[in-house]
Amino acid sequence: MNDNVPVVNSWNEWDPLREVVVGSATGACFEPTEPGNRPQRRGSASGTPFPTGPKPSEATEKADEELAGLAALLQSQGVTVHRPAPMNFGQRLETPTFSVENQYCATCPRDVMITIGNEIIEAPMSRRARYFEYQAYRDIVYRYWNADDRVRWTTAPKPSMSDAMYRSDFWDWPIEQRHARMHSSEFCVTQDEVVFDAADMSRFGRDIMVQESMTTNRAGIRWLKRHLEPHGFRIHPVHFPLDYFPSHIDCTFVPLRPGLVLTNPDRPIESSEAKMFLDNDWELVDAPPPVLSNDEMPQYCQSSKWLSMNVFSISPEKVVVEQRETPLQDMLDRLGFEVYTVPFRNVFEFGGSLHCATWDIHREGTREDYFPTLTQSLPV
Ligand code: ARG
Repeated sequence: MNDNVPVVNSWNEWDPLREVVVGSATGACFEPTEPGNRPQRRGSASGTPFPTGPKPSEATEKADEELAGLAALLQSQGVTVHRPAPMNFGQRLETPTFSVENQYCATCPRDVMITIGNEIIEAPMSRRARYFEYQAYRDIVYRYWNADDRVRWTTAPKPSMSDAMYRSDFWDWPIEQRHARMHSSEFCVTQDEVVFDAADMSRFGRDIMVQESMTTNRAGIRWLKRHLEPHGFRIHPVHFPLDYFPSHIDCTFVPLRPGLVLTNPDRPIESSEAKMFLDNDWELVDAPPPVLSNDEMPQYCQSSKWLSMNVFSISPEKVVVEQRETPLQDMLDRLGFEVYTVPFRNVFEFGGSLHCATWDIHREGTREDYFPTLTQSLPV
């Protein structure tokens, strides 16, 4: 590695990948019902209670096999791969402000950890069961932090996660009310405390998109703005008003290389927010219909069929897509990408697909300005 580049260095979602963390399903539990989450079974079992406690070992083993397959593919591309440390997710949490019966898993580092240039940020998180998930990555963070003085490490303020932080009736709003509230971006977390999950961000060099969602509120976005803008970044809140249950941006708006974003035809970006892309000659290309319908997704999977577009970039030319998503593979092939595939459906019930299950720590490249028409209003 070039000595002049800090060991932590990742400015966007697509530059050539050198070091990454791939999540693990080991020790995973079913996500508990809590004010920030109401997990539900799919298909014929829908309506019956969601299981609690540890996931069966057959499920975690199958997922771990697919995660190992992704790790092996990345290694074969010359990428250094790290894995999270084991944690006891079955342990009940009791803090001064909340308690929860069990925790979740360390399958989706994307949700918790983010590299912004030479800085690692641990997200506050929005759900009780994920409050301590950062601990699975602390050994990795310490290794990088000890290796290079230029690495910055920040933990965002932890919220109380007390009952008052949530709108408990959110889950029961009738669809008309959801529609009415669609433009106010009010979801299950209130605006009183700083709340964000790392996966609501998408990095475009000096510009960072942050989705307002069930997992990221306006105070969270304000915190990111105040923290990052003095360092030369621009934070852009983004909204996808047709998504009534928005959580994490990476099944909705997925940049693949400079000038190209893969978009979700069911969840177009607010038109005023599309402007900065169109003004700067970015193309927004809709993903093709996913192979599975929402009802065909695995029984315990809480994500939508749009996990199909949760692809992971090895470089601006190489992208990893789930093995059975052939329509998307064909489209990316036509757009000039070299498409790599791995089976990943057994990971879906652990919180996501390929982009969710990774956290890139080092990509080649530097901070670039991909939106030159934006007015420069930052303090120098
Ligand atoms: N809310 C998304 C959907 O169902 C799933 C996002 C998963 N992403 C993640 N980073 N865990 O479409």
